[in-house]
Amino acid sequence: MPRVELRGYGKARTPLGTLGRLFRYFKHCRIILISALLSILVYVAATIGASYCMKPLVNLLEASGLSPNEAFAKYAALLLGLAALYVLSALTNYLLNRLMLESCTVIMRHLRTELFSKMQKLPVSYFDSNTNGSLMSYYTNDIEATNELLQHSITQMLISVTSLAGTIAMMLILSMKLFAIMVVLGAIVVVVVRTTTKISGRNYRAQQKHAAAVNGYIEEMIEGQKDIKVFTHEKQVLDDFSVINDQLCQVSTKATTVTSILGPILNNLSHMFYAITCALGVLLLSGEEAGGVLIAFLQYIRTFADRVSQISEQFNSIMLALAGAERIFAVLDTPPEVDQGTVTLEKCGGDYFWVKADGTRTPLRGDVRFYDVDFSYVPEKPVLKDLSLYAKPGQKIAFVGSTGAGKTTITNLINRFYDVQAGTITYDGVDVRDIKKDDLRRSLGMVLQDTHLFTGTVMENIRYGRLDASDEDCIRAAKIANAHYFISHLPQGYDTVLYSDGANLSQGQRQLLAIARAAVSEAPVLILDEATSSIDTRTEKLIEKGLDGLMRGRTVFVIAHRLSTVRHSDAILVLEQGQVIERGSHDDLLRQQGKYYQLYTNMIELS
Ligand SMILES: Nc1ncnc2c1ncn2[C@@H]1O[C@H](COP(=O)(O)OP(=O)(O)O)[C@@H](O)[C@H]1O
Ligand SMILES: [Mg+2]
Repeated sequence: MPRVELRGYGKARTPLGTLGRLFRYFKHCRIILISALLSILVYVAATIGASYCMKPLVNLLEASGLSPNEAFAKYAALLLGLAALYVLSALTNYLLNRLMLESCTVIMRHLRTELFSKMQKLPVSYFDSNTNGSLMSYYTNDIEATNELLQHSITQMLISVTSLAGTIAMMLILSMKLFAIMVVLGAIVVVVVRTTTKISGRNYRAQQKHAAAVNGYIEEMIEGQKDIKVFTHEKQVLDDFSVINDQLCQVSTKATTVTSILGPILNNLSHMFYAITCALGVLLLSGEEAGGVLIAFLQYIRTFADRVSQISEQFNSIMLALAGAERIFAVLDTPPEVDQGTVTLEKCGGDYFWVKADGTRTPLRGDVRFYDVDFSYVPEKPVLKDLSLYAKPGQKIAFVGSTGAGKTTITNLINRFYDVQAGTITYDGVDVRDIKKDDLRRSLGMVLQDTHLFTGTVMENIRYGRLDASDEDCIRAAKIANAHYFISHLPQGYDTVLYSDGANLSQGQRQLLAIARAAVSEAPVLILDEATSSIDTRTEKLIEKGLDGLMRGRTVFVIAHRLSTVRHSDAILVLEQGQVIERGSHDDLLRQQGKYYQLYTNMIELS
């Protein structure tokens, strides 16, 4: 779904672009949007109309020659009309809030889905280089800010702008003369505000500059205290300090004086504005409707001033909130994990086949080779250097080496969480980059170094390895992983619900479940990354036996800290700083008396 939409939304960099892109989400609720816009129009028309009623009301007061009955009927009609307008404005306001609430709920659902489905498509490197907290904040803070933006800020802005336009129109209709006066006064206000902000801005900048100088001086003198004392410069330092401190004092006084005088004046400008127009209106307007026109006009001046200040406030909050939407769009614009692989995996009975684009089928054998592979997560820090290795079909290959040697990185490259920067990795003679990622990963049963258990029952967690596995398959896998015993002793056995990453299990039990998950996947190649690090050696031996039965004739990669775990491997690769320094069986390596021998005989320890 997002692929098409993403292209439609395009890139947004400017606030206006982001806003436009956000508005396009209303396509999911066009009718609601149109109803909301209509509500805004009716609401604004009703409020403006209510103000306009002042004119006939006042005129009625001044009118002469009406009998009491006539006057009363007119009053009643006007007041009823006024009441109707207020009721209408209240109703439309309520309707508008409801509509915006509804459309925003729909839009947020779309945005959340789009964000979440995008995250499923992002490469592992994205998650490695962003903390969970910052990723979560897209769903919490940024979505919330965007919701607030659409639901309140933008709606209010639309109301203010429409109302401002309507108010100006009504003022023009009421009296061009008064409007001209207002424009002149308004221009004066704008000029005054601009000059004063310029003056006070200049003063404040000067104040900041002097404050920075004083602080810098203090900091330097504190750091250099010993030197000052050694050279007995205390008096000199104090004199220098007094000078810049006095300057700061003068500049600050000037800045605050200007603000304290101008602040209240500016704050009360709209009132002065009001009073002046009122006075001029009395002088300028004539005719029998003058009173009504003036009163209605004055009402509009209030609305005008309110709307202008609302718009400037809303403008700032919209700009702030747009940052949240922009962050969300940045995620949506992040390039997804690319997959140009064409070779697919096919399962026929118990056998697996690679199917090339031209339809040729070759059986999966499990032959994995690295040719001169270079890799680094960050450019300046190479992790694997010119690494070559091979695993023949059916071999059990072990990697040993200290923490950070690059063992996990090798597995990250086999399953293409990351791609090599130089060299190639082949899988049964096919470059792994030519294999469809899903199929490549389906062919690998992996126990990750830091595996995750999801909220759900034990059975569901094991079935995560292969969703169509039957309960019997899962139990068989649990037996292979030697997890059956402890699971049977859980309060509800296989139906026990695990919470927050299996917090109600021990670390070792979590690892047993992870192994069961890999076992149930029936993948033809198995990768165990420190899968038994928290499991006692006796249980580990039992698991090894079970897995050996399962993986007979299949390739297995084992990464382990404990050398006893890897003893029976066909080949043990000793890694150091991203390079294979020794390779051979346990006995070969002992005979070589190299690093492995030293490790094994406890001459050195793995760190
Ligand atoms: N996502 C990552 N981003 C940057 N550097 C990483 C990342 N993962 C691992 N590294 C670095 O790569 C090196 C090898 O890590 P790793 O393969 O996990 O080691 P091992 O599994 O042998 O303990 C380490 O120096 C580690 O700091
Ligand atoms: Mg590791």
